[in-house]
Amino acid sequence: MRTLIGPEGDLRKVYAAPETPWLRVNMVSTIDGAATGESGLTASINNEPDQHVFRLLRELADCVVVGAGTARTEGYPPLDVPTVVVSRSASVPEKMRDADPGRVLLATVGVAAGLEAARDLLGADNVLVLGSYRVDLAGLKQALVDRGFGDILCEGGPHLLRDLLDQGVADELDCTFVPRMVAGVQSRITHGPPVDVPLTLQTLVEQDGTLLGRWFAG
Ligand SMILES: NC(=O)c1ccc[n+]([C@@H]2O[C@H](COP(=O)([O-])OP(=O)(O)OC[C@H]3O[C@@H](n4cnc5c(N)ncnc54)[C@H](OP(=O)(O)O)[C@@H]3O)[C@@H](O)[C@H]2O)c1
Repeated sequence: MRTLIGPEGDLRKVYAAPETPWLRVNMVSTIDGAATGESGLTASINNEPDQHVFRLLRELADCVVVGAGTARTEGYPPLDVPTVVVSRSASVPEKMRDADPGRVLLATVGVAAGLEAARDLLGADNVLVLGSYRVDLAGLKQALVDRGFGDILCEGGPHLLRDLLDQGVADELDCTFVPRMVAGVQSRITHGPPVDVPLTLQTLVEQDGTLLGRWFAG
């Protein structure tokens, strides 16, 4: 891969978190802004350069945070690093229900309908109640840091990314732009009420027409 802007060299060093705690969100988009193809899955738009960086960011992370919608749609299994599902309803995605204790954490709210069931499935220590009605995402970041997870990767999806931006919790956005246009009515990589968050381009990597950007908040 060729670095167009930012430090040259080993991608692992190029993508290293500049400090901890650090929370980054990694997403993929077509050139016309779609977060998925017609199938509704990211597999319909991502490609080898994107998967390369996707895997690298997972390797670098202490834990992966994911919205429950993405975990359900994409069929997330428990990952190699602890996986933190954000769910207002406290619904544990199906493939994560039999995970070994501590491999899956759930971040939810006090009024969540599924709270007790989630505690039974995951263990009470692994269910983080962060607010009464809205998940306090800054509180989530701190709770993960308190557990020793300083390098935090979020893999979306669009609702969760929008809320992380709204609450000022994301330090970095990584986005792959694949050289395709798909039209249709698919979501963008953010979804929800407007936010306005300035970003500073840190790194731009190119391979085979795919652009992999790394922006810092602010
Ligand atoms: N292009 C990309 O890089 C990318 C990345 C990820 C996903 N996707 C795609 O995006 C689609 C899924 O979109 P989505 O908007 O449903 O994804 P999402 O943000 O992962 O899921 C929304 C659900 O997650 C939970 N959630 C999200 N933010 C929350 C918050 N702040 N507080 C509490 N709960 C929160 C809620 O779950 P409950 O309903 O359980 O309360 C909500 O209904 C899929 O098609 C997926 O393939 C694309």
